[in-house]
Parts: sequence; C-alpha cells; structure tokens
Amino acid sequence: MSFWSRYVVPPLINCACGAKPIRYQRRKIVPRAQGVVLELGFGSGLNLPYYDAGKVTKVYALEPEEGMLVRARKKAKDAPVPVEVLPEKAEEVSLGAASVDTVLVTYSLCTIPDPHAALEGARRVLRPGGTLLFCEHGLAPDEKVATTQAKMERWWTPLAGGCRLTRDVQAMVTSAGFAIDDVETMYLPSTPKPLGFNTWGAAHVV
Ligand SMILES: C[S@@+](CC[C@H](N)C(=O)[O-])C[C@H]1O[C@@H](n2cnc3c(N)ncnc32)[C@H](O)[C@@H]1O
Repeated sequence: MSFWSRYVVPPLINCACGAKPIRYQRRKIVPRAQGVVLELGFGSGLNLPYYDAGKVTKVYALEPEEGMLVRARKKAKDAPVPVEVLPEKAEEVSLGAASVDTVLVTYSLCTIPDPHAALEGARRVLRPGGTLLFCEHGLAPDEKVATTQAKMERWWTPLAGGCRLTRDVQAMVTSAGFAIDDVETMYLPSTPKPLGFNTWGAAHVV
C-alpha cells in the first residue's frame, strides 16, 4: 500500500465525510437501522453517533483498509451500540446467510471496487424482510454535471482513495436484486455539484 493510501487518504476522508451537509444526510438514514446491522465500508465510524441504541442490538463494522481500521477500532470502544469490527472486503463478507436485519452503506459504493459483488453479499446476509439502507453520492442526472464528473474522475479517483463519481446509485441497487422502497435525491448544499449528487433510501431483496 502506498504512503498516500495509508497515511493521507484516511484523515482526508474522515474530514470530508464529517462535513456538515454529510452529517445531515447521516441523520436522515442511520436512525432507520434496526436489529443486527452490517455496515459496509465502515470507514472511521462516522455513522456511530446516529444509531438508535433502542433499536440496534449490534453493528458489524466491515472495513478492509488498515488506515481506517485504526480509527474504527478507537470509535467502536465508545459507541452507543455494541460494535464488532470485520476487517474484510464487502465483496467477500464472511457473515452467514440471513444473519442480519439491516445492511447500511453510506458513501462507500463509490469506492468499493466491485459494488455489484458487495450488494450481492448484502442480499445474501440479509434476513427475509431485512432492509438495505443506502446514502451515497454518484452520477448526476444533469448532462453538464455528468460530463464534468467523467472528466474529473481521471485525477479524482486516485487522489480520493478510489472514489468514483460516475456510478449510478439506484441502478447499482436494483441490478443487484433489490427493489427500492423509498428514495430521495438532491445536490448537497455547499458542495461542488460533481461531488455532491446524493441518493438515499431503503430497499428490500426481491
Ligand atoms: C468514503 S469512505 C466512507 C466511509 C463511511 N462509510 C462513511 O460514511 O464515512 C469509503 C470507505 O470504503 C472503504 N472500502 C474500500 N474498499 C472496500 C471494500 N472492498 N469493501 C468495503 N469497504 C471498502 C474504504 O476503505 C473507506 O473506508
């Protein structure tokens, strides 16, 4: 792993993902989690304060990157809910079939190298009636913004830990075998449009 990925990307992502508009987004989606939760791409644990401790019995914090895991383990100690860190890739989740009630993924489908495999893993581990909660940035619907996203990606992706700007969030979710129950979209305030087209909602296994 490069110096950049190990030492520069984790604090940068922690800082960018802690911005006020993103904190607002977390508040909209994370409190909907319930029961046993699997979080894909846990990062530095920025969702932890938003879990409803009255509804969540355990969080499996899946995260493969060592630089993030150091932060994740520290945050897990003071979490309002029990947290077990899973140091692995979402594409290879080791949990048993039908073992969790909620899968939560925030700002990680942009970075996970194979999001389709990750979402198929989510489908496998969800119990019947379980919920996928997502809150992601991705491909904008406006042609001008989408063109800028495609141009930016060449330099943005290597700088930002593998983050892609041109992934269509709803298409990823549905093509992995989920039906969307509710979804909202908007450009985040105070955020450059190519980075800030957000999609959030809930889905269930078809
Ligand atoms: C932009 S960060 C978002 C972190 C966190 N979900 C949040 O909302 O703050 C993307 C995360 O995806 C993680 N990631 C990268 N490859 C992954 C993979 N194959 N499986 C799961 N997570 C991965 C990165 O290490 C990083 O922590």
